Amino acid sequence: MATNQQQLMERIAELKREKQAVILAHYYTTPEVQAVADFLGDSLALAVKAQSIEAPTILFAGVHFMAETAKVLCPEKRVLIPCPEASCSLAESCRAEVLARFKAEHPNHLVVSYVNTTVGVKAHTDICCTSSNALQVVESIPADQPIIFAPDRNLGSYIQRLTGRENMLLWDGACHVHEEFSLEKILDLKKQYPEAKVVVHPECKAHIVAVADFVGSTAAILEYCGRCGATDFIVVTESGILAEMRKRHPELNFIPAPPIDSSCGCNECNYMKMVTLEKIVECLENEAPEIEIEESVRKAAERSILNMIAIK
Ligand code: 13P
Ligand code: SF4
Repeated sequence: MATNQQQLMERIAELKREKQAVILAHYYTTPEVQAVADFLGDSLALAVKAQSIEAPTILFAGVHFMAETAKVLCPEKRVLIPCPEASCSLAESCRAEVLARFKAEHPNHLVVSYVNTTVGVKAHTDICCTSSNALQVVESIPADQPIIFAPDRNLGSYIQRLTGRENMLLWDGACHVHEEFSLEKILDLKKQYPEAKVVVHPECKAHIVAVADFVGSTAAILEYCGRCGATDFIVVTESGILAEMRKRHPELNFIPAPPIDSSCGCNECNYMKMVTLEKIVECLENEAPEIEIEESVRKAAERSILNMIAIK
């Protein structure tokens, strides 16, 4: 490991003690950022974990909506975000005022929103979901109750295929990383590794999900790879997850699925990769930037997140 990187990690350890801070990180951050985290997880696990943290400060190594979710659930804590401009293409695809208008046009619909949304969108949402629990959330709603499902059209249509539910209006949003995987290249890899299991995140398009041996959230994919007994895995999600896969299972072979254009590096989430060790040091030293949310919006968003956590 580069000396500079080692020094930054030591400085972060020192600052965590001094500032009584805990670092939560998503699996898509860089391996070095994951290495300084106290807790790594998928979106659902990170939201649930935030609630039980005793330290007064949480530093969220992830994208903005994740840190916002932690602040909504822990208003009394300081939630620091090293890179507030780290957005998410799904969160960007759904603006709160546009959703509010759409909801007013469909007054008999219940709003289910993916957690990859801003706090403003969550405030207009009846119940949130993540990729871990979207099926349970939708199944918890009476079959004759129409739903607006926002903003991921791929996750929404996957849930529609699983439930056979026709009364779901899907928002037209998508993740720029998960939309880019190439079926042709996955099938080529399958020829090279015929025994490989194809593991896919449900943000991918339907024709990619159709060739999956397993579909799930980042945490569910990790868990499946550990228990399924195969040796080779074609991993069809953001490549940051490979660090944790290889750490947990050095004996297994994880092959990242290439995007349509292999030169574009677009199986990487550019937003997640904005979080660096340097920015974490700076953020802990300055105790800023910090997430701040207007209380009425926070309260409304909290209801939709707690409705989700109650289902799990
Ligand atoms: P997970 O909930 O599976 O961690 O997914 C978060 C995400 O942003 C996927 O692109
Ligand atoms: Fe958002 Fe896609 Fe990045 Fe996940 S991978 S944070 S959905 S842009």
